[in-house]
Amino acid sequence: MAQGGPWRGVIAEYEDLLPVTEATPRLTLLEGGTPLIPSAQIGPSLPGDLRLFLKFEGLNPTGSFKDRGMVVAVAKAMEAGARATICASTGNTSASAAAYSARAGIPCMVLIPHGYIALGKLAQTVRHGAKVVPIKGNFDDCLRVVRDIVAHYPIALLNSLNPYRMDGQKTAAFEVCDALRGAPDYHALPVGNAGNVTAYWWGYCHYRELGMIDLQPRMLGFQAEGAAPLVRGEPIAKPETRATAIRIGNPARWRDAMRAIRESRGLITTVSEDEIRSAYERLAAEEGLFVEPASAASVAGVIRLAENGFFGEEPTTVVCTLTGHGLKDPDYALDAAPDLEPSPPDAEAVLERSLGSHVCA
Ligand code: F0G
Repeated sequence: MAQGGPWRGVIAEYEDLLPVTEATPRLTLLEGGTPLIPSAQIGPSLPGDLRLFLKFEGLNPTGSFKDRGMVVAVAKAMEAGARATICASTGNTSASAAAYSARAGIPCMVLIPHGYIALGKLAQTVRHGAKVVPIKGNFDDCLRVVRDIVAHYPIALLNSLNPYRMDGQKTAAFEVCDALRGAPDYHALPVGNAGNVTAYWWGYCHYRELGMIDLQPRMLGFQAEGAAPLVRGEPIAKPETRATAIRIGNPARWRDAMRAIRESRGLITTVSEDEIRSAYERLAAEEGLFVEPASAASVAGVIRLAENGFFGEEPTTVVCTLTGHGLKDPDYALDAAPDLEPSPPDAEAVLERSLGSHVCA
């Protein structure tokens, strides 16, 4: 369990539970330690007796959960004397890899699907000094090329195929248990490359083995309808969703994720683009939480299941991970924006515009 006092980052807080030695550099941007926020509106609005908590991973240093695993993977790459790092990414992994590689002083190379990276993620990756190579293809094509490169060149792979990434991501499950003083009944996540749902499950299993919790949660995974290989049971050649973070047709952690769902007696299913949008808007407008579209998939899924009576009438604790910050994807945010035409600098005109003409009459 993490110590009290000012937060020191995931390696220092959980070093006993991570594969770090005295030789591992204490790299950190003070990632982790994110809040588990009780839902004020969405949870209470749902049928059943839900206690809904939102684990806001958008508050990590680069704005997504990726920082937890990245800090461990880059620290281990430093320990091994790596001269360069590489990853394929739908955006967040690249932003995180670029930031931690910059901090470590190691050159970083990222392959991204051309035209399908949210603006904020691209901006971060570029500014942290990574060599960005847009690929004519999707994430799965990028990852294939990255695997090819690391098979032939001594470059440290920073995708979640790297076991250290998974070790670091397990700390989010530790934090949930530390905060709740036990495990939730259900844990819901968006699923793309399927690393995070796997890492959470491994984290809960690890805490159970240590006797820190008695029961483990059921894992709930949600994929976008147009990018749902795990739900369909086969790779999708052309995955499509506005939630570009999870626009993945052939997840690298396929088998591990399906095992996590099965072992936890959980569920993996789809959510539609409209359901993602609606959960995204409700999180911002009703909870005050600005997340990126992929992150809203976990909440969209829980809303659907609750409305179908899935959770029954018993008191049930559900945690949804909000995987990334809303500032990552400003285009999606402003898609259905209200009228942003400028007004004359005049009180009456401004009031008329914002409150309607009858108020000013
Ligand atoms: N949510 C966000 C915001 C993500 O960036 C990702 C994955 C996921 C959910 C899904 O997690 O892949 O572990 O199942 N983003 C990766 C990337 C693929 O390259 O940034 P997963």
